[in-house]
Amino acid sequence: MTNQKGGVAKTTTVHNLGVALQREGQRVLVVDLDPQANLTSRLGLSVGEHRRSVYEVLVNHDPIRDVIHETADGIDLVPSDELLMRAEGQMEAGHIGWVRQLHRALDPIRGRYDFCLFDTPPVRGFLTVNALIAATSGVIIPFIPELDSLIGMQLLLGRMDELRGANPNLEPIAVIPVLVDRNWRNHLETIEQIKARMPHLPLTEPIMRHADFPKARAAGMSILDYAPNGAGARAYRHLAAAILAAEIPATPVPTR
Ligand SMILES: Nc1ncnc2c1ncn2[C@@H]1O[C@H](COP(=O)(O)OP(=O)(O)O)[C@@H](O)[C@H]1O
Ligand SMILES: [Mg+2]
Repeated sequence: MTNQKGGVAKTTTVHNLGVALQREGQRVLVVDLDPQANLTSRLGLSVGEHRRSVYEVLVNHDPIRDVIHETADGIDLVPSDELLMRAEGQMEAGHIGWVRQLHRALDPIRGRYDFCLFDTPPVRGFLTVNALIAATSGVIIPFIPELDSLIGMQLLLGRMDELRGANPNLEPIAVIPVLVDRNWRNHLETIEQIKARMPHLPLTEPIMRHADFPKARAAGMSILDYAPNGAGARAYRHLAAAILAAEIPATPVPTR
């Protein structure tokens, strides 16, 4: 899950898509790569008290299985920690091999999960690059359909081109319009423009803005448990079903 912007429902989508896939019987692991640890706290782990996290996996090469937490939502979590802020600097310091560290760390547990979703920080640093190189089935890009997002999207696709040597599967498999306001014609028009300008982009059904999302967050629940019959839960179940039906290809197709 990536987009260098913050507030575009990356964390919300990792959480709710993960739970929706789990409810379809899939074994799901989510990895929190954001030092702000929003996904970690959403999944019920208190933030601030130091615990072993993805930091130890990336920097000390601890086995990833040692830091996996089972959560009440039924999905497994590799938590984040504020220390991860330091990892960004330490990795930046020139250890080129470290961009493959997450990919390597996952090798011993690949058979244990059907899906592994990475939540990334809103910056293009080494943590995000680790996720992009470990993403062997492709990339999901949530975005708010506004003009500026299009420029961000083009930058992101260009960035993915640069990294494709290191991960040949680095293609968008789902580009999701999020936080879409039904009453705002501009949003729907922008989606139409994107369809016209980038016909190969795997655009999915939009996920509409709904007050249930912040309420579910405040209640510490996924949207699927907070309002199982609401539009939000339906949207994430629909996304999970599309991925499972491989309407969204498991083997990504080139978009350019
Ligand atoms: N469909 C939605 N409708 C309303 N609010 C949403 C929706 N999706 C996410 N949000 C809210 O938007 C904010 C940003 O979402 P978040 O997932 O934290 O974004 P990111 O991880 O990209 O920074 C959060 O407060 C979240 O509850
Ligand atoms: Mg986030």
